[in-house]
Amino acid sequence: MEPRRPAVRRSPGPPDPDDPRPLRLRRLTDLLTPTAVRLAVSLGVPDVLAAGPRTADAIAACCGTDPRATLGLLRRLVVCDVLEEVRPRVFALGELGEPLLDDHLRAFLDLDGAAGHLDRAWAGLGHAVRTGTAAYPQVFGRGFWDHLAADPALAASFDSYMDQWAAVWVPAVAPGLAARAARSVVDVGGGTGGLLAAVLEQDPTLFGTLVEQEASAERARERFTGAGLDERTSVVEGSFFDALPPGEPLYVLAQVVHDWPDDAAVAILRRCAEALPAGGRVLLVERVPDPDRPSRDDVVMDLRMLVVFGARERTRTEFAELARRAGLVLTSVEEAAHGLSFVELRREG
Ligand SMILES: C[S@@+](CC[C@H](N)C(=O)[O-])C[C@H]1O[C@@H](n2cnc3c(N)ncnc32)[C@H](O)[C@@H]1O
Repeated sequence: MEPRRPAVRRSPGPPDPDDPRPLRLRRLTDLLTPTAVRLAVSLGVPDVLAAGPRTADAIAACCGTDPRATLGLLRRLVVCDVLEEVRPRVFALGELGEPLLDDHLRAFLDLDGAAGHLDRAWAGLGHAVRTGTAAYPQVFGRGFWDHLAADPALAASFDSYMDQWAAVWVPAVAPGLAARAARSVVDVGGGTGGLLAAVLEQDPTLFGTLVEQEASAERARERFTGAGLDERTSVVEGSFFDALPPGEPLYVLAQVVHDWPDDAAVAILRRCAEALPAGGRVLLVERVPDPDRPSRDDVVMDLRMLVVFGARERTRTEFAELARRAGLVLTSVEEAAHGLSFVELRREG
């Protein structure tokens, strides 16, 4: 059956020229401006102009682009204050162009990097909202993790994207995590090891194991060596859908479960449950939105998890249900920092 749409209320006459809202809405929903700015970053236009004004033809030659089309792009960037046209066809960085020389900002805007890929998946939002499933495979022809496995540069870019975010939350969360640990910690899907290294630095008696896919595992090894933690760490290259190193008192999954739809999330938690000794714990570090009043960031991340992975952010009740299906019980939820919480799970019985 076709979905039913409510009848549309037609406006009685021509648009009111004094009503600023239609123009605001059109500016808000313009897709060209963000695409143009991010394309300029991806092509390296700000870098070409870092030393001073250049002609459109010179910029096109440096970027390897079509001169006439490049002129059009550059003039669009003038409209939004990223560039200035200082003389006809000669461009310089504008008020919003200077900040584009910052590496951190560039990493977020570059359409070819991991952040760019995650954002380009928004093009499939319609598919995701209609079906409740991931749009990333529709947009890119394969799932996000498969894409990373096939493209080492993209995988490295994703690790560095996660590391930038980790630089914000890890220092605030690591002390609380170290306080919950005794003897050893397994960080499952621990990325490049930033969290594990910070936890071990909090408590010199702790030993850490990191379970990760090959490329991130290698970067974690380099980090541990650089931090002098080789003696206190072990890196296990493998999948968290397979058996985990058994018998450790604490298994941590930081921002891992939210990447997976329910059945896969339960499968990962089951692997933790199988590995847990009596009295052991699984500690999730995740957003736990209030079901009635999610924060703005919770809402955005929930949609991102849907669009990229067909997954979601979960409430306390939803985590409790996942835990139950995996043979675990949710014993506590405590706010950690930066919108993240500790969700503690134990074996049933
Ligand atoms: C969102 S990142 C979180 C990384 C880290 N825990 C953090 O909070 O910064 C998810 C991690 O899961 C890893 N991952 C994805 N599939 C995996 C699998 N099958 N087995 C092990 N790790 C996997 C990815 O490589 C990635 O590092």
